[in-house]
Amino acid sequence: MELMEAIRGRRSVRKFTDSPPSKETIDKILAVTDYSPNAGNRNSTKIVVITDRTIIDYIGKAHMRIIQNFNKGITALPSEEDIAASENAFHNAPVVAALFGPKNFYFSSPDAYILAQNMTLAAYEQNVSTCIVGEVLNCLATEKGKQYQDKMGIPEEFAPQVFVTMGYCDGEYPKHPKRHYADVIYI
Ligand SMILES: Cc1cc2nc3c(=O)[nH]c(=O)nc-3n(C[C@H](O)[C@H](O)[C@H](O)COP(=O)(O)O)c2cc1C
Repeated sequence: MELMEAIRGRRSVRKFTDSPPSKETIDKILAVTDYSPNAGNRNSTKIVVITDRTIIDYIGKAHMRIIQNFNKGITALPSEEDIAASENAFHNAPVVAALFGPKNFYFSSPDAYILAQNMTLAAYEQNVSTCIVGEVLNCLATEKGKQYQDKMGIPEEFAPQVFVTMGYCDGEYPKHPKRHYADVIYI
């Protein structure tokens, strides 16, 4: 597939079938890791591919609740009851890649986002639909979240930077949304 075809064609998908992409397909998508630009070539992003429904639901709900609270000016961590009652930021994605970066590294976030974008394009080539779900605070900062991070083998010095949902689009593939960027300025 031509690069521009992937760049033009990829859309964020938020409704997936129940079938997860195979591990072989996910591995092909994650091959971009070895080719993505990253600050100082430190390769510090850690990727966890989550297929466990309980963990996906917990992180997706915590993420959504924390963002909703943040938008209301609330930065305190939500209660477990609040999280359980939340919508899921990952919708019904059967696979979620969590990209972690060191808390004390200035470029953790851009490194992870660049990787995430390359993953979405590689996924499109594999007919896998994706959505980038950006991190605002730290949706794994709750006690339960910390336990999940520990279970993933990710040290506490790392924080989630961005998530990429993956699956097969259920229904019509989204149309290209209207863009309203300001005109480019040449001087
Ligand atoms: C930094 C960043 C954060 C995003 N966070 C979310 C998110 O939290 N939830 C979501 O559904 N989509 C999220 N998206 C996807 C955007 O909503 C989407 O890219 C945008 O609407 C344009 O649509 P397109 O990707 O189909 O071109 C995010 C995208 C970026 C680049």
